[in-house]
Amino acid sequence: MPTQTPAPMSPEWWRTAVIYQVYPRSFADASGDGVGDLPGVTSRLDHLAELGVDAVWLSPFYRSPQNDAGYDVSDYCDVDPLFGTLADADALIARAHELGLRVIVDVVPNHSSSEHRWFQEALAAGPGAAERDRYIFRAGRGPDGAEPPNNWLSMFGGPAWTRITEADGTPGPWYLHLFDATQPDFDWTNPWVADRFDEVLRFWFDRGADGFRIDVAHGLAKATSLPDYEVDPLRTGGEWASDDHPYWGRNEVHEIWRRWRAIADSYDGDRALVAEAWVTPLSKMARWVRHDELHQAFNFGYLMTPWDAIELRAVIDESLAAFEGVGAPSTWVLSNHDTIRHPFRLSVKEPLPHNIGIGPKSADRPDEAPALARGRAATLVMLALPGSAYVYQGEELGLPEAIDIPDDARQDPTFFRTPEGVYGRDGCRVPLPWEADAPAFGFSPTGASWLPQPASWAEYAASAQVGVEGSTLEMYKSALRLRREHALGEGRITWNESIEDVLDFTVGDVRVLVNLSDEEVPLPGSDVLLASAPVSGTLPHDTTVWLRA
Ligand code: GLC
Repeated sequence: MPTQTPAPMSPEWWRTAVIYQVYPRSFADASGDGVGDLPGVTSRLDHLAELGVDAVWLSPFYRSPQNDAGYDVSDYCDVDPLFGTLADADALIARAHELGLRVIVDVVPNHSSSEHRWFQEALAAGPGAAERDRYIFRAGRGPDGAEPPNNWLSMFGGPAWTRITEADGTPGPWYLHLFDATQPDFDWTNPWVADRFDEVLRFWFDRGADGFRIDVAHGLAKATSLPDYEVDPLRTGGEWASDDHPYWGRNEVHEIWRRWRAIADSYDGDRALVAEAWVTPLSKMARWVRHDELHQAFNFGYLMTPWDAIELRAVIDESLAAFEGVGAPSTWVLSNHDTIRHPFRLSVKEPLPHNIGIGPKSADRPDEAPALARGRAATLVMLALPGSAYVYQGEELGLPEAIDIPDDARQDPTFFRTPEGVYGRDGCRVPLPWEADAPAFGFSPTGASWLPQPASWAEYAASAQVGVEGSTLEMYKSALRLRREHALGEGRITWNESIEDVLDFTVGDVRVLVNLSDEEVPLPGSDVLLASAPVSGTLPHDTTVWLRA
């Protein structure tokens, strides 16, 4: 069992770490079945070490019927055969540690799969049994209980309740699922649930995991009266702000994080916990990372900010103030497996609600080249900022959002749970291109791929970019190297006076200029360390440059 931990970067490595998200089903497929797996990840870890990141976060690879790409877990302490074995997980962690990379695994405590033994036992135990209290079962409304207990909606569309049929064939109560019907929510007021998750954390910490990314860390506590609630259909974030929301961002969750923090602290090697908490404003999200709670929270306020100089500066200042206010590092993230890849997200004319993608019938389809230019400029803003940053697999290759995925190849539950077939998150989950002229671009030895890869991805393949000056891959490598050399993660920001639609700030001895205007602007200073596009004398539109200050 791998217990060796990598050499510390600093005692609290997570404060400045750049963490790379591996989405295992789309990273590298060693078995050839078209779905990425753990041996595939291990075989490509060198790529990440060369890229220069500090840690890897792996999306779920646990046993799962895969109704929500593994976020529907049927055994938290085993690997799904689709991804390999526990021995493969051990080998991955050991190899990552050899390369100096820390490993963060995903834990999904809001819900399990309906195939989990815990839920199956709850069903089988019958009405009134203690096992039912592990999940949120309630009688329906109306004379014969035929209406759901309240009006809550699933994040993937449709009602958040499904009615069960008891063993004797009579209609039973309903269970809550804020996501798919195969993802029943736990009842965290039941100490039995908390005890089981203590065991899950210890299981992976004992195997050498350096931390956890906590799925839906804003959703575990529900108002016990389960009141009706009208959701914000655009999910613009407003609905995450209130303290009395019946299920998002309730104060009762903090007790759980204090308990988890104590477990993490009881291990050596500075283990870290990061919240996926869709909570606004940032001052509220900062409550998730108070000194005795989690170490980090994804900065979704930053991710949701449009490409606009005033808004960008405001969210950077707001983030630094909010997180510093509780002694936590700011984090920065532009892309992940739930959102449109950032070159495209920042280029659509109308922002799309969270979890909603672009597809063949979408009218608003950004052009690839200008979107990539903007995406690269955004990346060089993010990687200059103090704190910790998250990079989503494939962004270092400049991958576009995959738009033309045919309906019959789509996998995201959103597409199937909405009557009009809303495009979900498949477009950011397409398997990576590694080699320009290999089957499935080197993703899989057989050429199989669980989502189709666009033919144009040959030009984005890692093999087509390694050592190529100006390629997106080389830009990321240079940025990560310079970030480390200039200790940007530990720096402080000072804003320099700038002209309209240009951001100008200094971190340590690096001055960063970002041109968000439509025109090219003069470039003060010529000692260029790195630029997102060629510069000489002027700074083109949608370009970021790092200068020696
Ligand atoms: C999180 C995950 C997402 C998943 C959902 C339900 O938001 O990032 O992929 O569908 O939780 O587990």
